[in-house]
Parts: sequence; structure tokens; C-alpha cells
Amino acid sequence: MPTPADRIGELRGEIEHHNRLYHELAEPEITDREFDALLRELQELEERHPELAAPDSPTQTVGAGPAQGFAGVRHAVRMLSISNTYDAAELRKWHESNCKRLDIDPAGDVEYVVELKIDGLAVNLRYERREGGRAEFVLGATRGDGRQGEDVTLNLKTIAAIPDGFDAPEGGNVLEVRGEVYFEREAFERMNEERAKRGEQTFANPRNSAAGTLKQLDPALVAQRPLTMFAYAFGETDFDLPATHWEFLQLIERLGFRVNPDRMLCRGIEEVVGQTLVWESKRRELGYDTDGLVVKLNRLDWQAELGATSKAPRAATAYKFSAEQAQSRLLSVEWNVGRTGAVTPVANMEPVQLAGTTVRRATLYNVGEIRRLGLKTGDAIMVEKGGDIIPKVLRAIDSLRDGSERDIVVPDKCPGCGSDLGEIAGGTTKKQTVTLQCVNVACPAQVRERIEHYASRNAMDIEGLGGKMVNQLADAGLIADVADLYHLERERIASLDRQGERSAENLVEAIARSRTQPLARFLFALGIRQVGAQSAQELAAKFGTLDRFLGATREELAAFSDQETNAVADAIVEFRGRKENMELIRRLREAGVNPPPDTTSAERAQHLDADFDGRTFVLTGELQAMTRGDAKKEIEKRGGKVSGSVSKKTDVVVVGESPGGKYDKAVSLGVTIWDEAEFGRRLSP
Ligand code: IVH
Repeated sequence: MPTPADRIGELRGEIEHHNRLYHELAEPEITDREFDALLRELQELEERHPELAAPDSPTQTVGAGPAQGFAGVRHAVRMLSISNTYDAAELRKWHESNCKRLDIDPAGDVEYVVELKIDGLAVNLRYERREGGRAEFVLGATRGDGRQGEDVTLNLKTIAAIPDGFDAPEGGNVLEVRGEVYFEREAFERMNEERAKRGEQTFANPRNSAAGTLKQLDPALVAQRPLTMFAYAFGETDFDLPATHWEFLQLIERLGFRVNPDRMLCRGIEEVVGQTLVWESKRRELGYDTDGLVVKLNRLDWQAELGATSKAPRAATAYKFSAEQAQSRLLSVEWNVGRTGAVTPVANMEPVQLAGTTVRRATLYNVGEIRRLGLKTGDAIMVEKGGDIIPKVLRAIDSLRDGSERDIVVPDKCPGCGSDLGEIAGGTTKKQTVTLQCVNVACPAQVRERIEHYASRNAMDIEGLGGKMVNQLADAGLIADVADLYHLERERIASLDRQGERSAENLVEAIARSRTQPLARFLFALGIRQVGAQSAQELAAKFGTLDRFLGATREELAAFSDQETNAVADAIVEFRGRKENMELIRRLREAGVNPPPDTTSAERAQHLDADFDGRTFVLTGELQAMTRGDAKKEIEKRGGKVSGSVSKKTDVVVVGESPGGKYDKAVSLGVTIWDEAEFGRRLSP
């Protein structure tokens, strides 16, 4: 038995080795999960033996740690989105179209389960049977783009509502349970109060903070936050499921999952409509945020028969609650300069209670909107808060005017830099917009917004660098653009108002860590017009490295995804065409910003192979030419998935020397079997 000190030494050596492979050579030998396991073991040992902790341990220098983002997980069964309905008529139409497809009588007592639509974050929890019959929680992933999410297993393990296992009913080996991770409102508010007390940034709403929390790199941090989950669906499984969704919910409840007690079994669509009326108001009594109901056909065989469109299953639909409205008064209009130079109006209004919060500001979108609404300062207005966080002004109540209202003064100079503003018409033929635009790229207001965006959670995720800090640094003349961030010195930051050694140190470290954020984040962080987080991810996946992205032709850019992307390509070409942008990228690289190549991607895109893509493999027996780990990597590189046990869902079993029971099972189930030679041929045709 090695002593703890020995093992700690060993682990530190190993982790450093893999860190270097990953970050400097971009040639990892082990998966992120394996790396996480090493780091976790070290963390636990150091916690148990604080005397052996060291400031230069990889557990302390997290920046180089594994968790630069999370490993990608390809979902065995896609996580679809859901269609929406907004009133009883649309619900009935949905019902009738289903009945028609199923060839059943729409007037009959078709059963539906009505659930609350939880406003949180969907996750997929995979359980696999182990020796002894217990099913263990082996993998937890976010929805991502529906096909591929992020491996957040360690974070999910800290959530009490997620069982780490259960006694698996006979017959099945795999059960994926899906559900929504969220914060109860009270827990959320308590957490925010505590954060405010500690001088930390508070979260805007429970949904955003749940998402942000799940994507925290440090599970210990996640454990401190009171996340919970309701389970409501299944993904891949070879269990014998009951005949109905209602019974499925009862089953998983028995297995230990938390299932929402507010669920209704309805006979006929009119009972469903009745529930929508009940919950329009009753939802306010719930301890959590919900934006609607989810209506699901009860019979699972009918669900399967109906299938799905490219986006959503037909057998389920969301009924969206109507947005809440309230009356207030427009006090003044404020003009904000955004990072792209668009100057947008924001309404300051008399405080009003709306959807559980006090609202003082609402968006007015653009000058065109003010003109369209014919708004004046002093107007009585209706405001609405729908699914979005930011309320909007719906209209002025003309009948309440008394003549004291004033015209809103539209600025002709940028409030940030004083240069002339232009009006730009845009939008679609249906909805036209007129935007005020500051065309001075050096406008200090724009620059600050760009820095804030660069540091934001979905971009480079530099903790501690929010709007206030950016202003403070810029006011002190310490930063004029994002490249300057990497030259900030701890002492200078510490000498600023309300800053200390500790926070300065943390900020410098957070900035340093951002040097190796994944390419997708970096591309989003650049703030290229039209390039949102989603496109950035697709671009990173397509081009793999920053150089390839910068060198891509317009045609290549226009073809990076299946969407309508000419606008994106144009914006990128325009961005690259500006000298100051390329100069900024050069300076960022000089400062050590070096996003590791996107491997979910370029490499895989080259390798994607019909023999492997989207298929599930099981490896058994001893392979001669490569280790199992390597075989797994080769399969995954080509878009396949490796699972531990054979089931009806297995596509191929690769059999080496002296295989075990998996081989027999494959034979009995009639699963395709490749011997090693065949496997080799498929790998290198
Ligand atoms: S059912 C596609 N049930 O709504 C249908 N979804 O699903 C399978 N959601 O983003 C999911 N509460 O995160 C289902 N009770 C519930 C839900 C629910 C919230 C979310 C889910 C997803 C979206 C569509």
C-alpha cells in the first residue's frame, strides 16, 4: 500500500503530465472524465490530509485543470425540444391532428398527462446495471444542442434529488431518466441574499442561475447551492417500461426519483383545457418558476407511433401561460450604447409588481419601436413580462393622457463618445426596426460593453469581471481593450477603490485561466456581429482552430451549418476585414491567449464515418492490435458510442480473444458482430 504522501506525489506528477499533453501539445492521452477522476482523487486525499496540501498542487492551480469546459456527450436518444400552444383552440387542434394520425376518435376519452413546465435546465441521467443488480448513476449530461451535451456528472452528483443508484428491475441494463434541474424560488432568494452580503454578484433569475451553477467547474461550489430536480421522461432504455407515461412516473418515483406531485391524468382534451384555466392562476402558489404546462399523450405505444418532427415529439406539447401585464407610468427614457454601437432606449418607469418581482425598467428595443407606439414621457403604459427576463412596454394608454406628457427626445449624438449617430433601418418586412447607431468603433462606451461581453459567463467566463469592475479598470486607465486584461498587475488592481489583495489576486488568476478557454467561447467572446454562442460553437466545430477560422473563405463560412448563414458569413468577413480587429487578435495571442483546438469537431468531422456515426458499440474480449481505451477513442472519433453492456439497442459488438458473456448475449439478440480483423478494416478502409 502506498502512503497517502506517495499517492499524492504520484497523482500530482500524472496530472501535470496530462495537463501538459492537453494544454500545450493538444494531444491528450486520456479522456476528460479520466482526468477528472485523477483530480478528484487528489482533491479528496488533500482534504483528508491537509498537512500534505501544497500551493502548487494542480488542485490549487485550477486554471490548467481539466475542466476547461466539460467533455462532450453524444446523447443515445436525442433530446428534442417541444412544440408550443398558446390557447385552447391550439390545444384542440393539436389533439385532433394526433387523433387523425392515430386513426382514433377525437371525441373519445384519450388520456393525457398534464405536468408543469419547469423553467430550469434539462438533463439526461444515465444509469447502468452493475454486478449484483444495482443500477448506478454513470453519466449525467446537459441537453446541449439536443444531439450532444456536456458531461456534468460530478455536478449532478451533488444534487440530493438525484439518486446515485437504485435496485434495477429484472431484465434491463440501461435506464436514462430525464428531468429538469432548477432552484426553488425561496432557495434562490436566500442564495442571492447571501451572495449580496458577501459582495458577490447576484443572479438575475432562478433559471439562469441554475444553468450557470450546473456549468460551474468546481463541484464543491455546486454542492453549496440548493439545486433540485423533477424527473419527467426517459431517454435510452432497455427496461420493460409500463404501458403509460403515468405509470412510468410512478415507477421512477418508486426507484427514488423526485417526481412533481402536481401532475394530472386527464380524460379527453377538454379536461386538459380545464387544467390550463386552473393553472393560469394557481401557478403563483408554486414554490418555483413555471412558464406553462406540458401535455403528454398517456399511452407510450401511441407516443412511439406518433414519432417526432425534426424538432419535437408529436405526442407532447407545451401550453404557454399568458404573459403577465401591469400598468405603470413612463418616467424617462435612457439611451444605452451596446457593444456593437447600437444605441437602445430603456424605459424608466414607476415601480410595479410583475410576475413576482418589482419592475422599474423595461426595454423599448429601438427608436422605431418608440415611434410605432407613439410613446411620450409621462404616459400611462402597459408593461408585460413573458418568458424573457426583461419586461417590455406594450403600449401607451391614450385615454389616460392629460396633456402633461412630453415628446421623447431622440439623441443625435452618442451618449458614450459624442459622435454623430446614424439611423439604420432593418428587421423583416413584417417587423421593421430603426436603430440608432454609433459608428465610432473606438467609442469608450462600446469598448466597455465589448470587454464586459468578452468576460461574460458564456464567453471567456472571467469571474469577477462584471460591468462595475470593467468601468473601474477603464476609468483608472488600466484597460482600453480586452488584450490589456492580460497585462493587468495584481498590485495596480489592489490599489483601486474597494479592491483588496485577495480579490485582485483572484481576478488576475481568472483572467490568466481564460487564456485556454475553448475556441467556441473565444469566437463568441470576440463579439462579432451575428455570431452568438450557438453559431460560435458550430464555427468552432467546423473549423477546429483559430487559424483555420481566420483563413476560411466566405463560401466555407456560409456553409458552416444547415441554417441560413449568409448574414453570419458577411459579418465575419467584415469583422476580419477591419485592421483593428486583426490587430487585437494578434495582441491577444501575443498575450498568451491560445484556445485549444476544438476536437469535438475538426477531427471528428474529417473522420465521421457511416460505419460508426450514431451507432452504439460494445467491446468484449482482448484486442491484439490496440488497447480497449484506444479502440474506444477510435470509435468515438468517428461518431460512435461505446457502451458497457449489450442490449437490443447495441448496433455492433467487437469481439477480441476469449470473449465473455457479452458475446453470447450478442449472438442471442442477433446483434452484428465484428471480429478484430473486421474492426480493423472498418477503421481504415
Ligand atoms: S417532457 C420533448 N416535461 O421543456 C419532451 N419537458 O421538453 C420531453 N420541460 O427544454 C420533455 N418541464 O427542459 C417535459 N414536465 C416537463 C418539463 C419539460 C420542463 C422542458 C425541458 C425542455 C422543454 C421541452
